[in-house]
Amino acid sequence: MKTLFFATAVLVASLATPFAHAGDEVLLEEARKVATSLPPKMLAVLQEEIDKSGPAGAIPVCKDMAPKMAGKVLQETGWKVRRVSLKVRNEARAIPDEWEKAALEDFDKRAAAGEPPARLEKGEKVGSEYRYVKALPVQPLCLNCHGSADQISDAVKSVLKEHYPNDRATGYSEGQIRGAISVRKPL
Ligand code: HEC
Repeated sequence: MKTLFFATAVLVASLATPFAHAGDEVLLEEARKVATSLPPKMLAVLQEEIDKSGPAGAIPVCKDMAPKMAGKVLQETGWKVRRVSLKVRNEARAIPDEWEKAALEDFDKRAAAGEPPARLEKGEKVGSEYRYVKALPVQPLCLNCHGSADQISDAVKSVLKEHYPNDRATGYSEGQIRGAISVRKPL
């Protein structure tokens, strides 16, 4: 079903190319669908792991599951997915490039001006790719591992310290933007 959707979307996109605007709309829809499909899945698995083995035991989920899911999405849809942040935990994966950084800074400004963070997104053609980012707001569950020092258990602190000695991704409060999910596809 999913494959059919994307096959259809790609077909529509290619038919619509002479009308640049219509093509962009289709790409935006496609990118949005890819980007919004992952966080609820991650959240469900995270919650399940936290219930089962506590937040320290759930850290491998964040560490290993996110790239695994991203690999699957790439295979199924042709969209490359990753998570980025202005204050990274995993320096090897999540440092934004210039385009992503500008979008994240813009999201922070718009959130500060009162826009609901869950609705912040940006999509456009950049060179020979279509790129899209969507903000990931901090929810109560996230505070177990991204909140202030008194919200993070000693067990979580010690696992974080071991795996991420330069961790900058703590001190967040609910509703702030933790980062974004970033997707891109060659045109
Ligand atoms: C159980 C602990 C835990 C919870 C709960 C958690 N995270 Fe994370 N988060 C991590 C770890 C560990 C990483 C680093 C993953 C890696 O190595 O790629 C991470 C990385 C990220 C990243 C990638 C950018 C970076 O800094 O490396 C984003 C974005 C993110 N988390 C958002 C969230 C959001 C939003 C929530 C709540 C919905 C959340 N996280 C809940 C532990 C957690």
